[in-house]
Amino acid sequence: MSVPADSLVVLESVTKVYHKGSQAITALRGVSLTVARGEGVAIMGPSGSGKTTLLNIVGGLESPSSGSCLVDGRDLGSLTDYQLSVFRNRFVGFVFQSYNLLPELPAWRNVALPLTYAGVPPRERRRRAMAALAEVGLAGRADHLPNELSGGEEQRVAIARALVIQPRLVLADEPTGNLDSTAQADVLTCFSRLNQTGATVVVVTHNPAVAEDMQRTVTLHDGQIAG
Ligand SMILES: Nc1ncnc2c1ncn2[C@@H]1O[C@H](COP(=O)(O)OP(=O)(O)OP(=O)(O)O)[C@@H](O)[C@H]1O
Ligand SMILES: [Mg+2]
Repeated sequence: MSVPADSLVVLESVTKVYHKGSQAITALRGVSLTVARGEGVAIMGPSGSGKTTLLNIVGGLESPSSGSCLVDGRDLGSLTDYQLSVFRNRFVGFVFQSYNLLPELPAWRNVALPLTYAGVPPRERRRRAMAALAEVGLAGRADHLPNELSGGEEQRVAIARALVIQPRLVLADEPTGNLDSTAQADVLTCFSRLNQTGATVVVVTHNPAVAEDMQRTVTLHDGQIAG
């Protein structure tokens, strides 16, 4: 397979079958998709169409049942578990619909967590976490616990946590799902800025406003790319 030099993500005939007891559920059926470096792509489609599964495969959280997934030239299927965790910690910023912040840690410590995993020294962690919080407009909330923040602010802390490692690839799963329109707009601005600074952004969304902000929309239906 020849891969264009400017491709960051290349999925080739990816299928994913989950086994639950005697039941086999096919979540993806032969998905081929290329995302260019620096591109912003929205993934849309009905509930159950395979969007989260696709994102998890690109982020190395799950492996395909067949087919391949290359990210920045690495075939994720050929990596060891350790290599996969290094890939996730250094290369990918994840943003989930549920913010997944640790409730006992103030905002800046939540943001600093990926730096701990990446082996960054403590003083440097605080500096970079504060800079990331400033980027999402939350410099003034660094010492707040998650339950002292609004939903939109919590999601922006989660985005700061994703961008603190300066990821080449940002994967977001319905990042505005729980937010009102003002908070949505703030979150969208964060993604646009990330994209403008060169990160490749893939965002799963039900929200047409989010998709409009991206350069391209890919629609999944029943585990296949529509159209
Ligand atoms: N761990 C799992 N075990 C078994 N089946 C699963 C698992 N994860 C997902 N599925 C099934 O795979 C299909 C695709 O799920 P997926 O979560 O990718 O959908 P989605 O497009 O993200 O939906 P939503 O918009 O509701 O989040 C669904 O039918 C789902 O029930
Ligand atoms: Mg989903």
